[in-house]
Amino acid sequence: MDVKNITVLGSGIMGHGIAQVSATAGYNVVLRDIEQGFLDKAMEKIKWSLDKLVSKEKMTQQEANSIYSRITPIVNLAEAVKNAHMVIEVVPEIMELKKKVYAELDAVAGKDVIFASNTSTLPITEIANSLSRPEKFIGIHFFNPPQLMKLVEVIPGEKTSQEVIDLTQEYVKSVKKESVLCRRDVPGFIINRLFIPMVHEACHIMDRTDATMTEIDSAVKFKLGFPMGIFELADFTGMDVIHKATIEMHLRDKKVIFPHPIIEKMFNEKKLGQKSGEGFYKYSDEKYERVPLTEELAEKFNPIQLVANILNNAAWLISNKASDIVEIEKASLLGLGLKKQLFITAKEIGIKNIVEELNQLSSRYGKFYEPDPLLISMQ
Ligand SMILES: NC(=O)c1ccc[n+]([C@@H]2O[C@H](COP(=O)([O-])OP(=O)(O)OC[C@H]3O[C@@H](n4cnc5c(N)ncnc54)[C@H](O)[C@@H]3O)[C@@H](O)[C@H]2O)c1
Repeated sequence: MDVKNITVLGSGIMGHGIAQVSATAGYNVVLRDIEQGFLDKAMEKIKWSLDKLVSKEKMTQQEANSIYSRITPIVNLAEAVKNAHMVIEVVPEIMELKKKVYAELDAVAGKDVIFASNTSTLPITEIANSLSRPEKFIGIHFFNPPQLMKLVEVIPGEKTSQEVIDLTQEYVKSVKKESVLCRRDVPGFIINRLFIPMVHEACHIMDRTDATMTEIDSAVKFKLGFPMGIFELADFTGMDVIHKATIEMHLRDKKVIFPHPIIEKMFNEKKLGQKSGEGFYKYSDEKYERVPLTEELAEKFNPIQLVANILNNAAWLISNKASDIVEIEKASLLGLGLKKQLFITAKEIGIKNIVEELNQLSSRYGKFYEPDPLLISMQ
C-alpha cells in the first residue's frame, strides 16, 4: 500500500501538530474533531506556526500556503476517513473514549486502513483486540510538540502485521522524524518507562536524605547530562501528564514504578508545574522559566540511586526483549534530550556499584529495587 492520505482524529495539542508535520511532508491530511469550533482553533494554530516558519525564513509563503491547503478540517467521521490510508488517533487518553472512537471508526473505515494511536501509556494490544482488524493497529507515540520533537516511538501490538510496522516506520521517516521500535507493548513503552519512575525516585530521595531539590536537579543536569533537572523536567511535562502515566503504568506492572504520594497530591492541588505557576518549583509568569542549577550544587549530591533506577528499567526493557542498548540510547538522546549516554554514565559509576546500591535499597525498601538479571550479569 502507498500511504498518501492521512486522517488525524483529534485536533488538540498533539493532533494539530501531527497534521501540520504530515502536510509539510506532502501528505493530504484530513483533520477531524467533534466540533467545528475546535477545528477552527486548530487551523488557526497551524497557520500561526507556519507563519512563524515563514518569518524565520525556514520556508516561503508559497510553501506555507500549499501546506495549509493540504489540510482539510472535517467534522463528519465517515467523510473524514473516506479516502484515508492511515488514521492517526489523537483523542484524549481515556480508554473508554478511545474504544468508543475505534468502534465508530472500525464501522466506517475501509478494511485496509491502518489505525495508529498516539497513546502515551494505554495498552496497544487491548485496543487492537477491540477491533475487527487487530493486525492493522499500531502505536505511534509522538512527543510534544510534534513540530519540534524528533522522536517517535512505534509500538506494535501482539497481532500487528509486519507490513503495518514497516509502513508506519516509513511514514515516521517521511515526516523527518526518527523512530524507535518498542518491540513489545510494555507499560510506558521506552521513554516513559525511563522518565516517570525517575521522578518518583527523586521524590523518595528527598524523603530519605538531606539532599535539596536544586542539588538533586543540578546533579541530574551536570553529572547525568540531562537538559535540565528531574524536578524541573517534571514541572515542564506537567503533573497531570505524570500522574496519568503513573496510574496507567502502575496498574499494568507494579515493578515498573514505586509511586510517591506527592505526585497525586500535587495533581489534586492543581500544582501542575510550569503551566499552573507552581509544581516542584514556583514560576512567576507564563513564559518558560529555567531553575538556576549549578555545577557547585551538583557536587553536593551523588546521583547513584537515580542512575540505579533508570538503569534498572533500561535493563528490564532489554531483558524483556522490548528494546536494546542502541535503541534505548537513541530514544534517550532524542526523547529526553540526554547529552550523555545512559550506559556510559553507568560504566563511569560502575555497574557493580549500581547493583550493590539496588541490593541495599531492596533490603531496606523491598522487592521493587531488586536488580534486573541483565545488570547482575553485566557486573
Ligand atoms: N499532550 C502531550 O504532551 C502528549 C504527548 C504525547 C502523547 N499524547 C497523547 O496524545 C493524545 C491526545 O492528547 P492531547 O494532549 O493532544 O489532548 P487534547 O485534549 O489537547 O486533544 C484531544 C482532542 O481530541 C478531540 N476529541 C475528543 N473526542 C474525539 C473524537 N471522538 N473524534 C475526534 N476528536 C475527538 C478533543 O475535542 C480535543 O480537541 C492522548 O492519547 C495523549 O496521551 C499527549
